[in-house]
Amino acid sequence: MKGKLAWLGTMGLVAGALVLAGAVDPEDTVKTEQDSLLLRMADLTFAAGEHHMGSGNCVLCHGPDPVAMQDAEGNDVSVVTHWQSTMMANSAKDPFWRAKVAHEGLVNPDYVDEIANVCTGCHAPAGHHEAHWAGDDLYSIADLEADEMGLDGVNCTSCHTINDDSLRWRFNGDLPTNEDRVIWGPFTPQVTMPMQMNVDYTPTASGHMLQSEVCAPCHSLYTHTFDLEGQPTDGVFFEQSTYLEWLNSSYPEDEVECQTCHMPRLPGGTILSDRPTWLGPNPLGQHHLVGGNAFMLKVLRDNAVALDLSASTVQFDSTIARTERMLQHHSANLLVTPLDAPTGEYAFEVEVENLAGHKFPTGYPSRLTFLEFILRDSTGTELFHSGDWTEAEGIVGRDLPFEPHWNEILTDDQVQVYEMVFADVSGTPSTVLDRAASVLKDNRIAPAGFSTEHMSYDTAAFGPAAALDADFNRFADGTEGSGSDRLTYRITPDGYTGAVTAEVTLHYLALPARWVEEMFGYAADAEAIADFQAMFNAADRTPVEVVKVWWPASAVGVSEVIAPTPGRLVPNPASDRVRVDGVDVARAWLLDSTGRIVRQFAGTQAALGIDLTDLAPGVFFVRIETRDGREHVLRGVKG
Ligand code: HEC
Ligand code: HEC
Ligand code: HEC
Ligand code: HEC
Ligand code: HEC
Repeated sequence: MKGKLAWLGTMGLVAGALVLAGAVDPEDTVKTEQDSLLLRMADLTFAAGEHHMGSGNCVLCHGPDPVAMQDAEGNDVSVVTHWQSTMMANSAKDPFWRAKVAHEGLVNPDYVDEIANVCTGCHAPAGHHEAHWAGDDLYSIADLEADEMGLDGVNCTSCHTINDDSLRWRFNGDLPTNEDRVIWGPFTPQVTMPMQMNVDYTPTASGHMLQSEVCAPCHSLYTHTFDLEGQPTDGVFFEQSTYLEWLNSSYPEDEVECQTCHMPRLPGGTILSDRPTWLGPNPLGQHHLVGGNAFMLKVLRDNAVALDLSASTVQFDSTIARTERMLQHHSANLLVTPLDAPTGEYAFEVEVENLAGHKFPTGYPSRLTFLEFILRDSTGTELFHSGDWTEAEGIVGRDLPFEPHWNEILTDDQVQVYEMVFADVSGTPSTVLDRAASVLKDNRIAPAGFSTEHMSYDTAAFGPAAALDADFNRFADGTEGSGSDRLTYRITPDGYTGAVTAEVTLHYLALPARWVEEMFGYAADAEAIADFQAMFNAADRTPVEVVKVWWPASAVGVSEVIAPTPGRLVPNPASDRVRVDGVDVARAWLLDSTGRIVRQFAGTQAALGIDLTDLAPGVFFVRIETRDGREHVLRGVKG
């Protein structure tokens, strides 16, 4: 409480009044963005436990500030601002998680609280552990709902009190918590007194905060298998092995840790605390902490009031934009190569290369990525279309109970879906986590350097079909570890033998409708499930386009043939910037000379100017989608 009062003091009266008013949207009333962020942060908890503390206690010094936690341009880069709108900050209020805990309990009614106790170990770690230290055997959803510390999600102290103690081999939220009021960080602090005085923690340097191992206990997850009568069996199932996938890749050797990609260092660093005033800058690992779950972040943003979330729309929008960037720039590459084929047949090899530090997709078993392949004739008419997506149907042509892994695709209703599918003890496909007993399919693309010989392979093994595919995770010479999959599309259009163009897109879906169907069957039995069903149905479920490639690179010109292209690139030739002039653009893509997407952006950006600094000199393309839904390609030259 002392902390809260001291902090409100720095905000003045306006802040106090608005915090109490609650219903008023603070963003309408306060002048600067910084003040509005601080107001939102007033909703973070000031709870104080035996070893954990609510994140509200850290805002005073590590929150947005006119001097500290700024980048070179003066933008706010506060750890609290970034963290507050992430999935981890909201893990205990995540409505899908709440619904799923209810679902698992309804399926196994003899173990409702035992199951919730397991789930809260990672999704509400600070509350879960405080309750256990206080002598509780089980931390249930009812306990969580009454506990601000648990509702704080994966909060600051959840990570910063993790001791360096055999972390690599810990699973299921088994966190070795520091019991001496130490907050671990990567640097020797310039001063420890302010934190000791204010929150009674001593910031202390330890290298383990820069290693993947600190993420391992929560990102390695196995379940104990229940049978269909709701009784535990001896079996265990590796549900999430993100850390172990990383361990079985070339990234550890190259010293590319989880933090390297998920907490990118701010160039130039920053002053980490607003007090004392004489602090010099230190490096900052930005607490972006994004993966691929843009879908749920949008659900959180759009239901923030109902879910009692503290982050603002602006914060969620930033986290969503970072997530989409993560998917579109750092997740995968596509390579399309035409193969020799007899007249009347068209054949292409498509290679999907994983750029992430673990399988793509990784993590929660609902995640999938799928390939869309369109072949067009010289007038732009579709000859073949595999992997279309519609709101009503989802992935068009996807088989029940699941789509096989393909090495060669011949017809429209065959579609390459990279995913994990598990079965219960009877061998039937299931989405009940606690029933998972065996893998029916797992062709999620391995990370570079992944090997079936690695000691942790059995925690992240390929499914049966992928294991038999001779070019899955194999280089052309047959050795393992390519971190890619190659497949062939062989198409014989009826009676057409002319020129063709191909458009290939890799899409990402965090939560396919089919994955929640089984759970929604219980909507009448649990409010949490019914609530989430309503949010799910109202949400935009369009998959995220990860990469798109056109063949040939000039295929980009298909619609140019049909109609003269409106608009032009200015200037052309260009040097570091170019803008689209004379046409109302909805979306645009910058493509390099091979037709590969460099970046995707909104139309407004195309009109303002597109940055070309990361592009090699020579030909480039800007593909535009106009407001009236037409696509055109503009050809530019970088001097
Ligand atoms: C070892 C720690 C851990 C435990 C224990 C755990 N989870 Fe999770 N859970 C995670 C992580 C990490 C993710 C995020 C992975 C990702 O985004 O792909 C996650 C994601 C989820 C999601 C998806 C959320 C979304 O918004 O898409 C659901 C649902 C979920 N967990 C349910 C459960 C249930 C039910 C239990 C208990 C039976 C449970 N979890 C136990 C770590 C855990
Ligand atoms: C998911 C785990 C995790 C959570 C949650 C988390 N941190 Fe961190 N934090 C880290 C890691 C890892 C580093 C080291 C990053 C680096 O330096 O590259 C770090 C670094 C820091 C630093 C030192 C500057 C730096 O980047 O090295 C401060 C200050 C800090 N965190 C404060 C906080 C506060 C305050 C919160 C809550 C709002 C928080 N952290 C939440 C993992 C976490
Ligand atoms: C009264 C101000 C104050 C408060 C409140 C405060 N800190 Fe700090 N914190 C500091 C200062 C000062 C440093 C040292 C910064 C430096 O050396 O550049 C620091 C450093 C850190 C570091 C980096 C340690 C290292 O060795 O790299 C972490 C992590 C951190 N704080 C986390 C937290 C967390 C979590 C909370 C909330 C529970 C918190 N702080 C609350 C002032 C504060
Ligand atoms: C105390 C447990 C815990 C620790 C430690 C932890 N995580 Fe998580 N993490 C979670 C949970 C739980 C989720 C899922 C939240 C949800 O979806 O509801 C998650 C989700 C994520 C996501 C998915 C976000 C998205 O939008 O898709 C990323 C990325 C992530 N964590 C990275 C990290 C990194 C990097 C570290 C180590 C620096 C780390 N985590 C440490 C529990 C943890
Ligand atoms: C080389 C960069 C890189 C490294 C290293 C890396 N990741 Fe990721 N991670 C990504 C990218 C890119 C994505 C988005 C694509 C995806 O979902 O796989 C992602 C996604 C995730 C997700 C979300 C998956 C989802 O459901 O959308 C989690 C959780 C995660 N990473 C955790 C980790 C952990 C834990 C580590 C360390 C053991 C780690 N990552 C190492 C790049 C990396």
